[in-house]
Amino acid sequence: MSSPAVAYARQNQPRFLDELKALLRIPSISTLPEHKGDCRHAAEVLAADLSRIGMQNVRLIETGGHPLVYADWLHATGKPTVLVYGHYDVQPPDPLDEWLSPPFEPTERDGNIYARGAVDDKGQVCVQMKALESLLAANGSLPLNVRVILEGEEEVGGEGIAAFVASKAPELKADFALVSDTELFAPGLPTLCVGLRGMIYTELEVRGARTDLHSGMYGGAAPNPFIALAQILARLKDEEGHILIPGFYDDIIPPSPEELAAWRSLPFDEEHYRITEVGSRQLVGEGGFSVLERTWARPTVDVHGIPGGFTGAGAKTVIPAKAVAKVSMRLVPGMTPAKSFALYKSYVERIAPAGVDIEVRLIHSGDPCLIPVDNPYIQAATLALHEVWGKETVFIRSGGSIPIVGDFARHLGLPSVMMGFGLPDDNLHAPNEKFHLKNFELGIESVIRFLEEVGR
Ligand code: BES
Ligand code: MN
Ligand code: MN
Repeated sequence: MSSPAVAYARQNQPRFLDELKALLRIPSISTLPEHKGDCRHAAEVLAADLSRIGMQNVRLIETGGHPLVYADWLHATGKPTVLVYGHYDVQPPDPLDEWLSPPFEPTERDGNIYARGAVDDKGQVCVQMKALESLLAANGSLPLNVRVILEGEEEVGGEGIAAFVASKAPELKADFALVSDTELFAPGLPTLCVGLRGMIYTELEVRGARTDLHSGMYGGAAPNPFIALAQILARLKDEEGHILIPGFYDDIIPPSPEELAAWRSLPFDEEHYRITEVGSRQLVGEGGFSVLERTWARPTVDVHGIPGGFTGAGAKTVIPAKAVAKVSMRLVPGMTPAKSFALYKSYVERIAPAGVDIEVRLIHSGDPCLIPVDNPYIQAATLALHEVWGKETVFIRSGGSIPIVGDFARHLGLPSVMMGFGLPDDNLHAPNEKFHLKNFELGIESVIRFLEEVGR
């Protein structure tokens, strides 16, 4: 079933792609202070585009960090209001030498567009913007009321938007949210994501001597904070992948038997996943749980980096005064960031080896979420996806986190429709991030048909 808006989208596809490329050229890396101006520039480009396509009340909303972009169009009397959400910030591109084309020079190769942010999340924000443009251009109006809120701090915890949502700002008054920041379960398979893990991101600092010391003069008497740190880290999980923090698992709400049965019927080949996505000799993790359960419905601990000490070329014989590890935990429904952090902190303080001081810092956190599916918006989404992709929609969870989705539910009572168009091998946060061009096109058609369906 085609519509004038879908026809408009098809006719304008080459220009849509050019405009996505322009957005991808802006290195809006939210975590690096030297890219603050680029983040603002990306926000300004999006705001200008929202004005150009006919959205109203377009403005940047200042936060303590990178600005939010707001726009609305509220003339569909009697129709529901959607809050369209996405993020314009991206992860750092390193390691740079593994990219086949430079991360901020978008390049088309074998049906994909390669660039940092291609799929996470600029390509998908663009899907939403182009769907709105197509509807407005083809019909002179939108089939429902629309508010757009884009953030530039998703990859660093989303503090600014969290405060804005917690304030229940009138700009956020809506009936449901449309979040395009997830992926299809498999190529060509229409997918709605109905659950996300939460997280706590921490720094664990271990301090030994007052200052760096000569390791020959003091080795054997002075504590080595890297060894102490390694001893602590080694006690976070046992060999079977169980987290050793007492009480950590206590509040978990397991998936229902129906949900587990649905996951078992998804087209998932563990060996293919191991080889093509993970690329390791073997998969690891808690015994007794499938890979999908382990990544979607079980908590985990990961270490991201251990800055400090001597890491230059050659050798330096030093006992560093301190060592730091960046450690995060993914949380699942039932768990809260506050309690999980408290349990982790007291465990680490208790097991710290003699002679060192420990400091555990919380950098950011986000709640896990589980979306109710018995609402008309999920129904409309299922129908629209079926039409565009020609297959039954599957409902999945994801192991990733989008902290604001939980906040939308808690503070605003909004259910989210997580309709995203990434693919499992799109290399999010990794070198050679890409977005499949077919998914860019069909994503736009899916969002158009979804909004038409809700407004019907
Ligand atoms: N879009 C991702 C989350 C995601 C990835 C959802 C894959 C579904 C499938 C998001 O941009 C992201 O990376 N989130 C961070 C959040 C964190 C920094 C609070 C994450 O999951 O690490
Ligand atoms: Mn994202
Ligand atoms: Mn991301």
